[in-house]
Amino acid sequence: LQKRALDERLQAETIDVTLPGIPMMRGGKHPLTQISEEIQEIFIGMGYSVAEGPEVELDYYNFEALNVPKDHPARDMQDSFYIDEDVLLRTHTSPVQVRTMERMAPQLPVKIIVPGKVYRRDDDATHSPMFHQIEGLVVDENISFGDLKGVLTIFAQKIFGEDRKVRFRPSYFPFTEPSAEVDVSCGCGGKGCRICKGTGWLEILGAGSVNPKVLAMSKYDPAKYTGFAFGMGIERIAILKYGITDIRLFYENDIRFLRQF
Ligand code: FA5
Repeated sequence: LQKRALDERLQAETIDVTLPGIPMMRGGKHPLTQISEEIQEIFIGMGYSVAEGPEVELDYYNFEALNVPKDHPARDMQDSFYIDEDVLLRTHTSPVQVRTMERMAPQLPVKIIVPGKVYRRDDDATHSPMFHQIEGLVVDENISFGDLKGVLTIFAQKIFGEDRKVRFRPSYFPFTEPSAEVDVSCGCGGKGCRICKGTGWLEILGAGSVNPKVLAMSKYDPAKYTGFAFGMGIERIAILKYGITDIRLFYENDIRFLRQF
């Protein structure tokens, strides 16, 4: 009886190993992950290291230590999600500038990039309530605005193409002085197209020389050291690079969109 049971089982459970397998769907990296890694690679190649910080942040690091006190009108530029009076979802990656300097002081040079998620009360075709930024910070002796220009020109040419030019427009951020908005020339070569809306230029990031007040609050002597910082939206770089029309496409997980990358 035992033998018969075994024979029956062996009969019933035979596997035809020559049958084709069940095909596995192959996934890929999300376009935002791809762009973020591409940007990080460019800066790592220039000697930067990667730093990170918390997404739930103290008001002190998100605003105050960046020279934006409680009553400062520049807070209006970044509509925020508060958890309580002193805690919020960070509105940019800039608080990691201060956290890193506090941790590293008095070591030199500070030379970091900071990728991460940030949050603002925004919601339209080009603004999402959650999005991604990459911050850059360099502090050392004799760092000038010229160094910032050189680094960002190399970055723009590596990510968009060697033929691109970079333009600096005066701007304002409380944590940099002087400050600039940085544009890269459009792939249409200045003829004017849908992506650059006929201007020939694409805005890619904000930047400037680190405000001496921020250096002092972060334990670096502003009489001895200088630095530059910049911050860019990763979605924005991806939108410009691939000509994407709506930021929400990044978060819908529609396979027809994702498999194009
Ligand atoms: C800042 O956040 C500054 N921290 C940048 C900076 C860093 C300046 C260091 C100087 C020195 P801004 O608010 O402009 O600046 O945002 C930077 C980029 O984030 C914008 O250019 C834009 O590309 C992107 N961005 C802003 N809000 C949104 C949003 N709601 N959705 C998607 N991208 C956004």
